[in-house]
Amino acid sequence: MEIIQTPQEMQQLSSRWKCEGHSIGFVPTMGALHAGHLALGRRAREENSRFVASLFVNPLQFGVNEDLSKYPRPFEEDCQMLRDAGCDALFAPSAETMYGISTHEASLHVPHTYVEVAMLGEVWEGVVRPGHLRGVATVVAKLFNIVLPQRAYFGEKDFQQLRVIEQMVQDLNFPITIVPVETVREADGLALSSRNAYLSAEERAAAQVLSRALCEGVARARAGESDAAQLGVHMQQILDAKPQIYVQYLTVVDANTLDSLAHLDGRPARILIAARVGQTRLIDNMPL
Ligand code: PAF
Repeated sequence: MEIIQTPQEMQQLSSRWKCEGHSIGFVPTMGALHAGHLALGRRAREENSRFVASLFVNPLQFGVNEDLSKYPRPFEEDCQMLRDAGCDALFAPSAETMYGISTHEASLHVPHTYVEVAMLGEVWEGVVRPGHLRGVATVVAKLFNIVLPQRAYFGEKDFQQLRVIEQMVQDLNFPITIVPVETVREADGLALSSRNAYLSAEERAAAQVLSRALCEGVARARAGESDAAQLGVHMQQILDAKPQIYVQYLTVVDANTLDSLAHLDGRPARILIAARVGQTRLIDNMPL
């Protein structure tokens, strides 16, 4: 696996591979890799002749009071996991080479060219974490222009992020297919996330009610409940059993527009949840 640190070198390698007729499958990450990332990597490896991953803790998508400085950075372990997953190249730039400014300046969100996806980027995470999805869309657009993939793989765990990227690709005519990959879960249902590492043992035990509440919503919808408020009441009861959980939003949305739905009416829908478990913020979702 080649490790590449500058956008210029990555673009050169990708351009050469494309001239040679290779297809490039891309998995963007912020590192601290887990089985969820490896599921993306497996698809990228199977469906393309070249598999490129990126590892970049993007300062632009962290708010001022968020965990940028303490975000886990186990670089050597990540490299080994990617080698084992058959990755051909890892793009691991510094903030300076990505943005031409220091990590500190980037974390202060100094003036810059941004990609902002209106509407889809303004609700839910857009409200709770202002600037976050703009930071994600901006870095992913840059990564797409650097890595030049045919296909890019994103986990459904970050469902709003996935929808924002799909919309950006459509609106800005990137010649890239976005491939959604199902959420990977622990045995008790907790969605895998690099942030799970922050949970104490007690918080980790409590965190499993997030997926239990979502499963309850899905089961009740399958049994015929179509009133979103009623689904919310039953899910909230499960969450209320754990005092460590503070719910930021719990909502049934149209899976395309992310608009809240009062009633399930047959269109694709999704339940989204965001909650603090102690000091750690987790998000999850399930299709209805
Ligand atoms: O999902 C993530 O890990 C990040 O938001 C991404 C897509 C790599 C952009 O920094």
